Amino acid sequence: MSPTGRHQAGITLPQSAQPNLLAVVAELGDAVAVGPLLAELGQTIHALTAGTDPRLLGLPPGDLTVTIGVGPRLVRMADPSLPGAADLPRFSREQIAPQARGGDLLVQICASDPLLLPVVATALLQQAGHRVQERWRQSGRRGPNIPVDKGISAPRNLLGFIDGIVGPHTTAEHQRHLWLAGPAPVGGGTIAVVRRMELDLPRFTALSVADQEAVFGRRRATGVPLSGGTAAWDPNLGAKTPDGRYLVPADAHVRRANPNVVGVGLMLRRSYSTDAPAPGLLFISFQNDLRTFTNTLAHMDDSDALLRFTTTTASATFLILPGFDQQHPLGAKMFH
Ligand code: HEM
Repeated sequence: MSPTGRHQAGITLPQSAQPNLLAVVAELGDAVAVGPLLAELGQTIHALTAGTDPRLLGLPPGDLTVTIGVGPRLVRMADPSLPGAADLPRFSREQIAPQARGGDLLVQICASDPLLLPVVATALLQQAGHRVQERWRQSGRRGPNIPVDKGISAPRNLLGFIDGIVGPHTTAEHQRHLWLAGPAPVGGGTIAVVRRMELDLPRFTALSVADQEAVFGRRRATGVPLSGGTAAWDPNLGAKTPDGRYLVPADAHVRRANPNVVGVGLMLRRSYSTDAPAPGLLFISFQNDLRTFTNTLAHMDDSDALLRFTTTTASATFLILPGFDQQHPLGAKMFH
């Protein structure tokens, strides 16, 4: 898959996210020249995705994508007024070891062939050498996409629900909610949030299907909101039963996370399920304003029924750099 263009691959392309992911988060040494490092990583990504890098060991790259983000510390070094300069605040239900919070560099590797992931991570880390030190890594998997309605499709997560229905899906929505329009050094980039959330599967599976559906506010089998319609319909948050109870409960995830209720734009959720170190979700969202994420989670905290089944064990935000090509090396507009 071509790594070059106005945007990096691995966000909206390929349109159905690949089934396997490995995210590696690293920190940079103090005296490291960031520009040359990113340019080298871009070159290596070029060779890896073209299948010409000998470190691929002959594996065909297929639909391999590598997406690079830089953490708030590096953004602040370039220009503290740029989007991406703010750290992610703390939220409830976090049990995050110091090395699993934040980080300077995100390497998100996605592919259909799971063998590629550790091989590509090794090649990129070897290229960076002593300039980077790994902090944490997480692999994840996605099941097949299920078409729901209006061209939208999304996979199920470990709780059995279709995850990724609401989001910026059209090119116009991508421009409005996903890609940074500017300033020039970051135009075409986006802001990523990556959080590893362990799920209490035994407690969730002990619920009746109706109680599971009340947690989300959607039907488990189809993704249809409890207020009716099709999966692509917005939940009708005002709809009530004849005896006056909300069809979409007050603490349902789709009510607490609803962008109109929160008053924010759309986030592109592209999460992967995990089985180690614990069953859960590697929540990944892309949006052009960090507040889309922080205001949503602040609105969910303490009142979202879903959060009672989660413990967050890793958390970071990154500026996903704009796309690159042979004339414009990765990161060149930000780090000279
Ligand atoms: C383990 C944790 C989580 C799971 C299993 C999960 C799962 C889901 C599911 C199944 C849906 C409904 C279908 C859809 O629109 O995709 C949904 C909707 C949504 N989730 Fe999550 N989610 C989790 C955490 C989060 C977090 C941390 C955020 C952001 C702070 C978030 C933001 C959203 C948003 C914005 C929607 C769309 C709501 C709407 O307008 O209907 N989710 N999530």
